[in-house]
Amino acid sequence: MPEKEIKDIGNSFFEEISKLSDERALYAVKVKYVGRNGILTKILKNLKNISSEQRKLIGPLANNLRQEIENAFEKRKKELSEQIDWEKEKLDVTLPGKKVEIGRLHPITSVYREIEKIFSSMGFEIVEGPELETDWYNFTSLNFPFDHPARDMQDTFWVKSPKEKMVLRTHTSPVQVRYMEKRKPPFRIIVPGRVYRNEATDAAHEHTLHQFEALVVGNDINVGNFKHIAKQFFSAFFGKNIDIRLRPSFFPFTEPSFEFDISCTVCGGKKCPSCKNAGWLEIGGAGMVNQNVFVSAGYPRNKYQGFAWGFGIERLAMMKYKIDDIRWFESGDLRFIKQF
Ligand code: DAH
Repeated sequence: MPEKEIKDIGNSFFEEISKLSDERALYAVKVKYVGRNGILTKILKNLKNISSEQRKLIGPLANNLRQEIENAFEKRKKELSEQIDWEKEKLDVTLPGKKVEIGRLHPITSVYREIEKIFSSMGFEIVEGPELETDWYNFTSLNFPFDHPARDMQDTFWVKSPKEKMVLRTHTSPVQVRYMEKRKPPFRIIVPGRVYRNEATDAAHEHTLHQFEALVVGNDINVGNFKHIAKQFFSAFFGKNIDIRLRPSFFPFTEPSFEFDISCTVCGGKKCPSCKNAGWLEIGGAGMVNQNVFVSAGYPRNKYQGFAWGFGIERLAMMKYKIDDIRWFESGDLRFIKQF
C-alpha cells in the first residue's frame, strides 16, 4: 500500500531525529530523507511515471510529508541549539592570544643585502659563480703554484668527479677569471657567495662561510681608487666615518698585495678593548690584480690594471651585530636568528 509506505517513511524520520543530540547528525538525517537522492525525494520524482489515480492519492501525501519533515527539522534544530551548554562555550577574553610567529632574515642575508645596496649605488654589478669549482678556476688560473699549501687536504674539500678533480671553492676569487673570460674592461663587480674550508672549527673558524669579492679593472685603476672605494663602502656600512690602513702581504693573484684594516668601529681609532687597543681591526686581503691572472682570463699582459679584494662576510656581521662566535651563523638555532 503506497499510503502505508509514505506513513512509514514519516515515522522512521521522526524516530531518528528524536534520538539525535547534535546538529550535524540532524542535517545528515534530513539529507537521507529529503536530500537530492533522499528516500522521499525519489518518490516525489517518480510521481510523473505513475497512473493519474495513484498520483492523486500519493502526491498530496508525499508533499505534505515533505513539509512536515522540513518543519520537524527546524523545530529539532532549535531544540538542540537550546541544549548547548553555553557555560562551556563561553569565550574567555582575558586569556592571552595565540602568538603568530614572524620569520626573520638571517644576519648573513641582511649583510648581503646591505652590501649589494651600497655597491649598486656606486655602479657595481653583482656577479655570482658556482660553489663546486675546478682546480683551474679555484687555484691555477689565480696563479697558485702547484705546490701551494692551500691545495692541501687540510684546507680544501676535494670532490671526486668522473671527469676531473673538483673542489668546493675555498674563496670567491675564481669568479674573477670566470667573469673576465666573458667581459672586456672597464668594469666593476662584487661577488658575494658561499665558500668552504676544510678546517677545525672554533669561535673564529667555520668550514662553511661567506665571502665577498670586489674586482675593478680598467686602463688606469690604482691603489688610491681601492682605498677610496673601501672607505666609502665601510663608512656607509657602519654608518660612521671609517679609515683604511694597508699592510704589505702576499697573495698569488695580486701584486702588490696587502692586508687591509679599518679604523675601529667602536672607538674610531682611539684604542679600546674591542680593537685590543690597536685602534684598527683586520678585515681582509686586497691588491692590484696580478698580470698572470689577466693572462689566465685571455687578456693581453700589461694592457689593463685593476684591484681586487676579498673578505669574510661573517666577520663583518660579527662586527656590526657584536656576535662573539662564528659558529652561531650555521647553527640553525632560532634563538640566535630571532635577535636580528
Ligand atoms: N681569496 C682570498 C682568501 O680567501 C681573499 C682575497 C685576498 C681576495 C686578496 C682578493 C684579494 O680578491 O685581492 O683569503
